[in-house]
Amino acid sequence: MELHLASMENITCWAFRSLCQGITDSYTGIFSMQYLVRRSKAWREIDTFTSKERQWIQVATSKEQECREFMARLKRELLADSEKNNVFGVQLNLSCPSPNIIKIGQGPALIKRTVRTIALLNALLSQDNFKVSIKTRLGLNEFEVKQRKIFALLNEIEKIQNPNFSHVVIHFRHAKEPSYAEYNYEFLKEIAEYKIPIVINGGINSLRDYNNIIDSIKNKKNIIGIMIGRAALKNPDCFVQFSNTMNNNHLEERGLNKINQDFNELCKIHPPRNIYLEKIKEMCEWNKT
Ligand SMILES: Cc1cc2nc3c(=O)[nH]c(=O)nc-3n(C[C@H](O)[C@H](O)[C@H](O)COP(=O)(O)O)c2cc1C
Repeated sequence: MELHLASMENITCWAFRSLCQGITDSYTGIFSMQYLVRRSKAWREIDTFTSKERQWIQVATSKEQECREFMARLKRELLADSEKNNVFGVQLNLSCPSPNIIKIGQGPALIKRTVRTIALLNALLSQDNFKVSIKTRLGLNEFEVKQRKIFALLNEIEKIQNPNFSHVVIHFRHAKEPSYAEYNYEFLKEIAEYKIPIVINGGINSLRDYNNIIDSIKNKKNIIGIMIGRAALKNPDCFVQFSNTMNNNHLEERGLNKINQDFNELCKIHPPRNIYLEKIKEMCEWNKT
């Protein structure tokens, strides 16, 4: 089973991603594609150094031409900086709830704009070097969930034939819900019927949570993995039980002191920017001392 460490802005730097044992995939925090296309210094923030897992760069855009320019530039930048040339793929963000993103037609504003979203995915797929995935919510708001906008989008995604299209991550909430709201896995049974690899995300803290979510789903074969965010902030070893049980690994859980030590060592290898160090200190109990 695929085990994805969620994209977390100003947190999932290389050191944090490398700290998480057992993961198969990790993501940078969200980047504005325009920023990466227009500003050379933005590329200093890309930290896809050698890793055990597949690394994804997560981007937000609403422009097809920008996607093509970005993919060409990504290839050039990585060839010029071989240390960072470990990018498995690019993920299009349709999930960030920030009003600033939504008001410029990016992120979850795209969920209902099926034609535009498919055009963006096809533009990202117009190359053969990187895989492409998408992370979406159930809709921009409750109304869109009731209108089943996610199904209109999945209907079109299912038609993509390009083998470089990898998977859809679904964050099982709409974009106006607060982070403490209950997750809504009601649609999962129907979603699992699509011939699309699906990674489920939201409120999964343990193997028991995962089993509770998928127990009633008969056809599980398209659910290829899970994505975890906040539980990894509490304990970066939250993937270990999954990895040992589902992927037949024999990883050992570390205590939180050891995790902190390991993180500090990783920070010496590739120092994260201060904004990451500050946010990790703020959000992760184990990094307080
Ligand atoms: C501090 C923080 C930053 C986040 N930044 C991003 C981001 O940059 N891109 C994204 O797609 N999701 C972002 N998310 C959402 C997570 O990727 C994930 O979808 C969400 O936390 C639900 O998963 P969980 O219940 O396992 O935490 C962020 C979440 C947190 C807590």
